[in-house]
Amino acid sequence: MPLIHILDDQTANQIAAGEVVERPVNAVKELVENSIDAGSRSIEVEIAEGGLAYIRISDDGCGMEKEDLSLSVERHATSKISTADNIYHIASLGFRGEALASIASVSRMKITARIQGSETAQWISVEGSHITDRGETGAPQGTTVEIRDLFYNVPARKKFLKSERTESGRINTMLGKLAMANPGIAFRLINNGRTVIETPGNGRLLDVLSALYGIDTAGEMLPVSGEEVQMDGFISKPSLLKSSRQYQTFIVNRRVVDNPLISKAMDNAYHSLLPKNGYPVAVLHLRVPPETIDVNVHPQKREIKFSDEQEIFRAVYHSVLRTLTTQSEPEEVAASMIRVPGHDEGNSMGTFLSGKAGDPVLP
Ligand SMILES: Nc1ncnc2c1ncn2[C@@H]1O[C@H](COP(=O)(O)OP(=O)(O)O)[C@@H](O)[C@H]1O
Ligand SMILES: [Mg+2]
Repeated sequence: MPLIHILDDQTANQIAAGEVVERPVNAVKELVENSIDAGSRSIEVEIAEGGLAYIRISDDGCGMEKEDLSLSVERHATSKISTADNIYHIASLGFRGEALASIASVSRMKITARIQGSETAQWISVEGSHITDRGETGAPQGTTVEIRDLFYNVPARKKFLKSERTESGRINTMLGKLAMANPGIAFRLINNGRTVIETPGNGRLLDVLSALYGIDTAGEMLPVSGEEVQMDGFISKPSLLKSSRQYQTFIVNRRVVDNPLISKAMDNAYHSLLPKNGYPVAVLHLRVPPETIDVNVHPQKREIKFSDEQEIFRAVYHSVLRTLTTQSEPEEVAASMIRVPGHDEGNSMGTFLSGKAGDPVLP
């Protein structure tokens, strides 16, 4: 008797979900990226109990017609690419066609969608990778995905989650970053019934910063522009530092990324002006030819690979340094250095640092 067998869909999806949705924030990111890809102008996210009890994402994007709605929760089902080569040319954030299938396999999901020109919306309920119910209803154009009881059928995963507050903090931070990457989209986050993020969607990045971090912080930001590589964004004056990297957002071609190379280049540029233990607030948006990056190197698509890392490093370093040396007052730089006793001595920065690690995004 053969020992090898093909796993059933539900099992395969759950295993894939282990990589794609480690915690609630990953589900929120995937769903919001779908809304962005759908051309939405406005995206509303509602969560309860850190996302474990409830997540809802409503958008006003293109919606889905009946047939696509059923296909959307299938594994490897995507409208965004048709060959692997497409990954190196497309502008969409999704491409693997596995997010909805993965999330559906570890939650109870309902999707309601209405396309332009249709009188009614279609909905499906999905449980454990199978469509259990469907129907027609009234709803505005766009898509709403509701997720209840995330990880209800994978209790082992729940053990690795932190407190509700930590999980909702992560969602808060992530949504803020997605809002910075998309200033033309109005974002709202409702946490346990309370609106905690609201951005105007008017296309101005500084207004997003102001909505997230407060008007005072926004007022302390210096604009960055790129010469070697197309780049825009803001970095904080040397007088405004935080004690964690949480307030640093790096975006490449509208994709929020974790990139040690960009972090390092920025650190190095500040290093000549500031002590080690403070982190500036920053949002940098790089725009590079799509074929010069590989976006398919991380299960959660959080990391990317540049084909010419040196060029990116140099470009970020020079742009940040140029901004700091030409736009901040020399006295201010000197003053901040004087105010910090013992330069490299760990925690001796006193009130100089204006945030604590783990602070929520909102002031
Ligand atoms: N909010 C949405 N609006 C419109 N279409 C959507 C939305 N979310 C998902 N879809 C459709 O479902 C498909 C599958 O989504 P997903 O599993 O996230 O894979 P991917 O984003 O990689 O294509 C998408 O390609 C898209 O056609
Ligand atoms: Mg997707």
